[in-house]
Amino acid sequence: MRSVEWEQGAVKMIDQRVLPWKLEYVQLRTVEAVAESIRNMTVRGAPAIGASAAFGMALAAQNSAAATVDELAVALWRAGALLKAARPTAVNLAWAVDRLQAIAESGEFNNADDLREVLLAAAQQIADDDVRINSRMGALGAALIGDGATVLHHCNTGALATVDYGTALGVVRAAHESGKRFHVLLDETRPRLQGSRLSAWELEQLGVSYDIIPDTAAGYYMQQGEVSIILVGADRVAANGDFANKIGTYQLAVMARAHDIPFYTVAPTSTIDLSLSGGEQIPIELRDAAEVTTPYGNPIVPAHFKARNPAFDITPHRYLSGIVTENGIARAPFVDSLKRAVAGEQV
Ligand code: MRU
Repeated sequence: MRSVEWEQGAVKMIDQRVLPWKLEYVQLRTVEAVAESIRNMTVRGAPAIGASAAFGMALAAQNSAAATVDELAVALWRAGALLKAARPTAVNLAWAVDRLQAIAESGEFNNADDLREVLLAAAQQIADDDVRINSRMGALGAALIGDGATVLHHCNTGALATVDYGTALGVVRAAHESGKRFHVLLDETRPRLQGSRLSAWELEQLGVSYDIIPDTAAGYYMQQGEVSIILVGADRVAANGDFANKIGTYQLAVMARAHDIPFYTVAPTSTIDLSLSGGEQIPIELRDAAEVTTPYGNPIVPAHFKARNPAFDITPHRYLSGIVTENGIARAPFVDSLKRAVAGEQV
């Protein structure tokens, strides 16, 4: 199962808004529709939106009437700006757009159709690489989960959040596939409920033992001594190891330190943004308050009640035990280990 793929000239993706009740796909035929599907979270999760944006760029190129490479580059510039504006925090989106834009502006093409073909192949490559990288991180990270452990997990970082396999949940999957027996506590992850709707759906299919818990119960289970390790994903990791992830990650990290529980993020190098020296520079997406007051159209309070809805928070690197990348598990000092991981060295 791929969360997003190219099929017959369109971008096909799982509609993550209707899971776990229905497994439905949408077919998108314009870059505007791809940008909207990222914004409204039909597709979500940093690597999945990166791959969607790459296919969106390829789609923009196919749809453009441009006769020359220069005209096509202009059309791609517009498409890239539209896609990047859809969600600001996950760097994979801008990373994927920039990668395709660089091809368009490389000066290596003098025929627009050749460029269109290469852009589609590049988008496909981003999607294929994501699956390969995730299974590599899974294999590396599985050693962190001991037999009999209880893993605490936040949001959804599985196959749905990536093209396939997952990051933090990919580690859970790899440990399960290697025959380890362990249990997973899934934060439900308000307000969009990625933990209860999506992560539980994935673990049901994999046959991994789990319980959904209210986000507010995480500290209780840590205090009870039930949590062996916490695994989360990341939307953007700064050069010093500070990282943005789903709102609620920071409080887990602080509580993990108070209870001496190992705390790891699992992130491909495409999520590492060496251009930012620290987490305070990462833009945080503020979403519609209606997601808090009226989740999925179900009013909890009257519509005029006030609410705030930051979608991500920043966890300072001092709370991290390590960052699982496809090039090894980066450890402090992260300024050195992340630079080496991004350069392709084993860390
Ligand atoms: O708002 P979302 O659902 O896109 O947020 C997703 C997360 O925060 C994930 O932890 C992150 O993207 C890493 S997923 C592999």
